[in-house]
Amino acid sequence: MKKVPHRLYLTEDQMPKQWYNLRADMKEQPDPIINPATMQPATEEDLYPVFCKKLAHQEMDSTTRYVDIPEEILEMYKIYRPSPLIRAYNLEKALGTPAKIYYKFEGNNTSGSHKLNSAIAQAYYAKEQGLTSLTTETGAGQWGTALSEACAYFGLPLTVFMVKVSYEQKPFRKAVMKTFDANVIASPSTTTEVGRRILADDPNCTGSLGCAISEAVEKAVSTEGCRYVLGSVLNQVLLHQSIIGLESKIAMEMLDEYPDVIIGCAGGGSNLGGLIAPFMQDKLTGKADPRIVAVEPASCPSFTRGKYAYDFCDTGKITPMAKMYTLGSGFIPSSNHAGGLRYHGMSPILSKLYHDGYMEAVAVEQTRVFEAATEFAKVETILPAPESAHAIRAAMDEAIKCRETGETKTILFGLTGTGYFDMTAYTAFQEGTMKDYIPTDADLQKGFDSLPKIPGIQE
Ligand SMILES: Cc1ncc(COP(=O)(O)O)c(C=O)c1O
Repeated sequence: MKKVPHRLYLTEDQMPKQWYNLRADMKEQPDPIINPATMQPATEEDLYPVFCKKLAHQEMDSTTRYVDIPEEILEMYKIYRPSPLIRAYNLEKALGTPAKIYYKFEGNNTSGSHKLNSAIAQAYYAKEQGLTSLTTETGAGQWGTALSEACAYFGLPLTVFMVKVSYEQKPFRKAVMKTFDANVIASPSTTTEVGRRILADDPNCTGSLGCAISEAVEKAVSTEGCRYVLGSVLNQVLLHQSIIGLESKIAMEMLDEYPDVIIGCAGGGSNLGGLIAPFMQDKLTGKADPRIVAVEPASCPSFTRGKYAYDFCDTGKITPMAKMYTLGSGFIPSSNHAGGLRYHGMSPILSKLYHDGYMEAVAVEQTRVFEAATEFAKVETILPAPESAHAIRAAMDEAIKCRETGETKTILFGLTGTGYFDMTAYTAFQEGTMKDYIPTDADLQKGFDSLPKIPGIQE
């Protein structure tokens, strides 16, 4: 039998030249987004004030199965891609499991995560349209860093609204973004209407992705030549992230492998949507039937305890409404350390697939996540981001089950990034001060109370 290498790198020539649009193979489509101004399904043109035109098109295009990746984007991808598919021999040995564990590692770039895959695409299309600046939000800081890198490369000024709790916990993230010339503002801030409103209600508000999105959208629509870009949730972001799954599938085919279980952490759903894309295609077209598992924090359980409903994508209620699993745009999650997973909603594509039974979800507690992160770091020598460690936890649990049943399952998980800027969280874990906050039903009800009413659709 051929020995599987520890790390399999595709060559540049083997890197996919097209992204894959999962919607083209979904028999039932996600429900359309609703324009809050008209309470009707939004059109592509409705999105032009917020997004650049090509991205608005990608957002609405549910039929083009494969989309060519422009040459300029491929050139930048090649600086840090193809990313390795790693066989976790050491972890398998440490767990004493007969399972084969593979992970796709996306942390090999300065932003430290998969976020750069979409940042490059979004900055490129904005530049191509002749826009003169961009705004965005960032939670953990990975997306803000990734977009700063991409904007610096394409020469576009960028303002990043960073969730205040992360801004304070991660001063060095700011410094990295500033290295790439980004203007970084702690959100909620006094620089926007919506920020001032949120602060008037709660002067100690530590922020959330939902607040930061509202501020970034407001700045984009009120600034000439400026547009907003989002690092997750949207269909276009899942499209760009499909490069992760496409590369993984090619690599696994080269090894004569196919995953029985595919696991990814889920914040807004972009890495998971990207990783599973070609495998979900197999599932949708009846070619294979892998299990697909989303892992979320117990503190922000959109899939496992949320409602499948129309909701705003932001706290300020200025974005279009999407049908998704949501905790309510008014839900402010506890300031737990996996900042990138603290979003109230979930990708409409993944929400639909979950709703229709094509995938599963589990919620895990923070201390168990850091136990897994620490064990993984020791044997695999990569210090994982807390977000990514959610997937590690679930993959380890799956492998431990195999030890008990003797099954030799093939497990593939997404290792989305590195955690060097998350040492406050690692320190809290080491010192035993980390808390496992789990919202009560009453806490969640407050968020559900903020769900919008849409005549004839959601009363
Ligand atoms: C390292 C890392 N992994 C995962 C996520 C979750 O995002 P998504 O669900 O869009 O992949 C984030 C978000 O910031 C992140 O920084």
